[in-house]
Amino acid sequence: MSLFTDTANDFTFDDVRVTCSADANTVYAASSDKGLKDAFADYFKVGTILNGSTVKNSAITANVLKEYNSITCENETKPDATLVQSRCTEENVGVSLSRAAAIFDFCAKNHISVRGHVLVWHSQTPVWFFKKDFRPEGEWVTKDIMDKRMESYIKNMFAAIKSEYPGLDLYAYDVVNEAISDDSNRSSVKGGAREPGDNKKHGGTSAWVQVYGDNSFIEKAFTYARKYAPAGCKLFYNDYNEYWDHKRNAIFNLCKDLYGKGLLDGVGMQSHINADINGFSGAAAHSASMKKYLSIGCDVQITELDVSCEGGKFTLQQQADKYKAIFKAAMDYNANPTYKGKVTAICMWGPNDANTWLGSSNSPMLHDGSNKPKPAYKAVASLVPQSGLSDSAPAADKAPSSDNKDNKDSKKDNSKTTVSYYTGFEKNKSGWEGRGSASVSISTKKAYKGKKSLYVSKRKEAWNGTFKALDKKEYNPGKAYSFSAYVMYPSGGSKDTFCLKLQYTDKNGQAQYASIAEGTAKKGKWLNLKNTKYTI
Ligand code: GLA
Repeated sequence: MSLFTDTANDFTFDDVRVTCSADANTVYAASSDKGLKDAFADYFKVGTILNGSTVKNSAITANVLKEYNSITCENETKPDATLVQSRCTEENVGVSLSRAAAIFDFCAKNHISVRGHVLVWHSQTPVWFFKKDFRPEGEWVTKDIMDKRMESYIKNMFAAIKSEYPGLDLYAYDVVNEAISDDSNRSSVKGGAREPGDNKKHGGTSAWVQVYGDNSFIEKAFTYARKYAPAGCKLFYNDYNEYWDHKRNAIFNLCKDLYGKGLLDGVGMQSHINADINGFSGAAAHSASMKKYLSIGCDVQITELDVSCEGGKFTLQQQADKYKAIFKAAMDYNANPTYKGKVTAICMWGPNDANTWLGSSNSPMLHDGSNKPKPAYKAVASLVPQSGLSDSAPAADKAPSSDNKDNKDSKKDNSKTTVSYYTGFEKNKSGWEGRGSASVSISTKKAYKGKKSLYVSKRKEAWNGTFKALDKKEYNPGKAYSFSAYVMYPSGGSKDTFCLKLQYTDKNGQAQYASIAEGTAKKGKWLNLKNTKYTI
């Protein structure tokens, strides 16, 4: 699709939208391939987890393909899944990715980015890793020995991922997880270090603190991770209860220091919260902590989001409101010039209510046990109305049925439109390029909607303008689509004619330029270039 005017005036372009009518029987968003990843593409990635069993569930993987562009392994890359005791020596720690294989294969094949989780953690790490000769009943090793083991483990993990999955987009990694104690007495005096010990014997204690005496292993872990992580893989500190004032301050101090030293790229807010909009894990506390972490200057991701209804204590509507508030705050920070684009992912900790560590009775996820979108899904999708997703999810917690004539939702679903493409140029050029001599850039001077638009300049001839290649998978010849875009030119003559055209190759191999929409704009005034029924 290309856009130009009759003259060589500079022009600006915004709010571009292509929609089409869905098939009459398409009730759920699940039947289209657009999902949350598309709705929030201008803001952040949207992700979830897979494990060795959910990756084999085709209903779940179909939903993942539609909704998400980030995957974390629930358990398969934790140290107790990857360390190989029989292959450990002091020089070389044995690792295996065999438990993660099916998940990494799925992500690599489908071009889904991966969040690594986790390298250094007090939990789900075998105690023998900290003991003499790698024997569980042995003595604790010294710091010097542990430094070597930690470096070798981190090095070998990154090397294994690189050699076994060269095409995998490993875009973030939780280097250290949950190293700050919940105990406010500890957070102020010991940099937040947990109690030392074998956590299999005493829950919550840390073998890392046992060996190092304090939290000094954290900086070492980040130093090694920085040394061996592939380019483009951002290094995160990740924790829970991250909105609790004293713990938040300890996480902030730790991460600010590591960021200042160039070792850390982001803070992971696990966000295991409940559906109470107020209170301990309320929207205000969560948003305030996100702001505090963003003030470090680093990235922030919500890494393990689930919103528990606590066995029916909270309704699905309360849950929807809470999910919406969490997403809204993240979007607002992203749009705020001070923190621009720094919230880089929101990841759920479970693909549906039947697959969550909290148990299905707490129904904490966006999809129910049959992968149907819940009211929370609709609430989140409604933050990006142009995505069309909120129209295609049910408003109530029961599925709309097409043979129930009294059900307004099903009627609405049957006549809905889906958005094939939308951009407001808020985050990037969204695939639009200069045509001929023209160049395109994001402008903050003018916008039809939001704060930005695409500015087209350096045109030498009328046909020079801007274009974007359409994905053949998305647009079907013979099918009607609605196209809409807002255009404006700031200076030149009093009128200029805009043309939106479709370039295609006909059956004789000839390039054709079909007009989608044309219109005459007045200088300095926005014009809506529109064709509600254009058959490709
Ligand atoms: C923490 C960990 C996750 C997972 C959850 C519970 O948040 O970071 O890996 O174990 O607890 O599933």
